[in-house]
Amino acid sequence: MSIKTAIVNGVATIEIARPEKKNALTIAMYQAMADALNAARSDDMVRAVLITGQPGVFTSGNDIEDFMARPPGQGSHMMESPVARFMRALFEFDKPVVAAVTGAAIGIGTTLLLHCDLVYVADDARLATPFVSLGLVPEFASSLLIPQLMGHRRAAEKLLLGDPFTAEQAVECGIANAVLPASEVVNHARRMAERFNALPPGAVREAKRLMRAPQLEQIAATIRTEGELFSARLRSPEAMEAFQAFFQKRKPDFSKFQ
Ligand code: COA
Repeated sequence: MSIKTAIVNGVATIEIARPEKKNALTIAMYQAMADALNAARSDDMVRAVLITGQPGVFTSGNDIEDFMARPPGQGSHMMESPVARFMRALFEFDKPVVAAVTGAAIGIGTTLLLHCDLVYVADDARLATPFVSLGLVPEFASSLLIPQLMGHRRAAEKLLLGDPFTAEQAVECGIANAVLPASEVVNHARRMAERFNALPPGAVREAKRLMRAPQLEQIAATIRTEGELFSARLRSPEAMEAFQAFFQKRKPDFSKFQ
């Protein structure tokens, strides 16, 4: 199993653990993460969730082999896919979610951070949303939330050109709370998650709901629109060229497309 879960001192930890494939997320891993979140939601002992990766890599995003072999269904089926189930569980999670990011956080690895409450990044963290470079479009409200956080111009560098951003830039634009040495980031994030043990859980839940309420419908509508485009683009010749190029360890050639 490439997702490890544990509940210690009120914190449910979800650890992405597939280092041999740079923590690329498979269908089974999304299912395991969705199940872990749903279990944590109904467990009164759990006051917060902590999402972590491995030293040097948080996640390299969706498993590209899965994208090619088993793309999420189209239309309403997309919303029932394991990745959508996981992201819905995260988006609707009513307790605090804390993330500790070490190394690369690519694609959905960055997108999921937009739906966490507290994010701590290691000094080696490198976030990137290279959807367009893969022939795809932004997903799970990243086309809404990233421009909101940093303005259209800087978002265009991330979402259209696919430029990565450093840990300092992630803090500067508000995606992350603080940069820590790589050896300390997980412990720091855990300590922050454990602080919720001393707070009244009902008030925490209500406050989180209030903070998110004004944008909830807009985020949900954006996720639906992005999802339809994303699943259509997964089947596009542009995406096929990008995926094949990744596995053939060459640069993609988009010169023949219009
Ligand atoms: N899906 C499937 N396999 C992946 C993967 C992914 N998203 N990311 C990495 N892997 C696999 C590689 O194919 C390679 O497998 P192999 O050893 O069988 O050849 C292994 O993981 C190691 O990856 P590699 O690229 O050799 O490591 P690296 O240290 O040179 O680079 C990354 C690390 C994360 C920068 C690079 O793997 C990468 O860019 N991955 C794809 C990121 C991406 O575009 N994600 C999709 C976003 S929607």
